[in-house]
Parts: sequence; C-alpha cells; structure tokens
Amino acid sequence: MSGTAWLVTIGLLQIVLLGALIVGGGLLWRWSERAAHERDVRARKERRELATSMAEDRREWKQRMNRAAASGARTALAEARESDARAGSVRDIVRRGELRNYHQLEALMALYTLLQPTAPLPQMRRYALSPDAGWVLVDEILQGEPKIVVECGSGASTILIGLALRQVGSDGRVIALEHDPTFAARTREEVERLGLGEVAEVAHAPLSPQWLRGRSFEWYDPRAVEGIESIDLILVDGPPRSTGELARYPALPMLADKWALDGTLLLDDADREDETRIRELWEADCGPLAMDHVRSEKGLLVVRRR
Ligand SMILES: C[S@@+](CC[C@H](N)C(=O)[O-])C[C@H]1O[C@@H](n2cnc3c(N)ncnc32)[C@H](O)[C@@H]1O
Repeated sequence: MSGTAWLVTIGLLQIVLLGALIVGGGLLWRWSERAAHERDVRARKERRELATSMAEDRREWKQRMNRAAASGARTALAEARESDARAGSVRDIVRRGELRNYHQLEALMALYTLLQPTAPLPQMRRYALSPDAGWVLVDEILQGEPKIVVECGSGASTILIGLALRQVGSDGRVIALEHDPTFAARTREEVERLGLGEVAEVAHAPLSPQWLRGRSFEWYDPRAVEGIESIDLILVDGPPRSTGELARYPALPMLADKWALDGTLLLDDADREDETRIRELWEADCGPLAMDHVRSEKGLLVVRRR
C-alpha cells in the first residue's frame, strides 16, 4: 500500500473512531440523563406516597382523638350526672335526718312540758324508747289513767311512765320487768334520782323457758307478775332481740289473762321484721285485736281488744 493510501486509511479510521466516540459519548450522556430523570421521578413518587401516608396517619389520629374526646366527654357527663345524683341523695338523707332529729326534739320538749320532771330525763333513743314513742305512751297514760302498768324492759320508759302516773295523781303504779341485773340496778337508780320510788318498781325477772306454740321461748320469769290481778297498760320493749328470735312474742300470751278487757298494749320497734311477725302471731293466737300502727322513729303498735 502506498503512503497516501495509509494516510487515507488512518484518516478514515480516526474519523470512524471520533464518530464512535461522539456517538458513545452521546449515548452515555442520554443514559445518564434518563437515569437521573428516572431517579427524580422515583424520588417524587416516594415523596408523594410519603405525603399521602402521613396525611392518612394524621386523619386517622384526628378521628381517634375525636372519638376519645367524644367518649371522654360522654364519660365525664355520665360521671357528673352520677355524682350529682349522689349529692342529691346525700342531701336528701341529711335533710331527712335533720327532720327526724327536729321531730324527736319537739317530742322531747313536749315530754318535759307534760311531765315537769324535777331532774333531767334519762337518755332516750338508741336502746331506749325514742321521744316520739314516749310522747304516745305518756299521752295514753294521761288520757287513760291506768291503775297498773307492766312494762317488759326497763329504762327511760320506766321514768316516763312513773312521771305520767304521778302527773295523773291517782294511785297508779308501774312494774318494770328487767332480766338483766345491771340494767335493773341502773333503772332503780334513775327511779330514785327522779323521786319516783312510790310509783315505779323494777322487778328483776331473769329470762326462763316458756312453752308456747309448741316451742320454747326465753321470757321473763312470770313469778314477777304473780301478785297482779289486772293490767291496764302493757308496754312491750324487751327482752332485746339478742336474746332470741321472736323474743317479745310471749308478752301477750303470757299476760293475756291479766290484761284488762279495755286495756291497751304498746309494742315498740314495731317496724322490725321480728315484730311484724309477732303482730301476725298475736292476731292468730289472741285475737280479735284492733291494731294501730303509729308512725314513729322505730314504729309503735297500739293494740286493744275488739
Ligand atoms: C329496748 S331495751 C328497753 C329500753 C327501755 N324500755 C327504755 O326505754 O330505756 C330492752 C332491754 O335491753 C337492755 N338494754 C338496755 N339498754 C341497753 C344498752 N345500752 N345496751 C345493751 N342492752 C341494753 C335491757 O335489759 C333492756 O331491758
């Protein structure tokens, strides 16, 4: 090959190489441009997806918070209503308690006015007769002027009866049956303190078995009332429930043959379950009886023969 032909060949080769370089460079640039574009598109897509998912999260949280707030508000409202109702019922209980206390004070003042004691009356309420029942008892004595009163269970009631009998001015007297020697001694002291020795007697009568209705009841030894022929008024306020079921039931069957035909019997604590049952038994065993339930702190039953 001649020198010219070599030069032409080399020149052509250079041109081809240059062309290839140019085409290759162009392709490389296009490829890198496309890759950058695709990265860009991917990145934008990811950002969009992230933004969408964050927006969904925010929406969900907002819904949850709204739900929680609504349920919190409902609970708070329900609690407020409940505590309002509680406060209302506490207010009612306090108001009823105040009324009860006021009523007992009124009755106590009536007792002082009617009885004019020379010394303070013994403590009332709780185990003792409440003033409202005491007022009914005293009124019964002032109106009925009984000659003989027998009471089952001594205490403040013995003093009220003694004072009322003295107020009546006749020769009436009360015999208080007491099974417990300590309480018998305590009531005797009260009798002395109020100067009622002539009208009130406390008879210690231990509880002993009495056979009634085909079973045994613990009741006051009946020898304590042996010498009494006729009883005008009976107050049943003992023995205490702690001595046995239907502890006060024997009072009427045991004293019925001495109870004057126009006599009266008062049963305290008449609202208790035991006393409700006793009332039914008395009606069945000793009827026909007229029974008036007097609304009082513990319930008082006024019993007479029909
Ligand atoms: C309901 S209480 C008789 C209360 C009495 N009628 C009066 O007005 O005070 C019945 C019996 O419980 C007993 N008793 C009285 N006070 C008591 C007390 N504080 N604790 C336990 N027993 C008591 C006595 O034996 C009483 O005869």
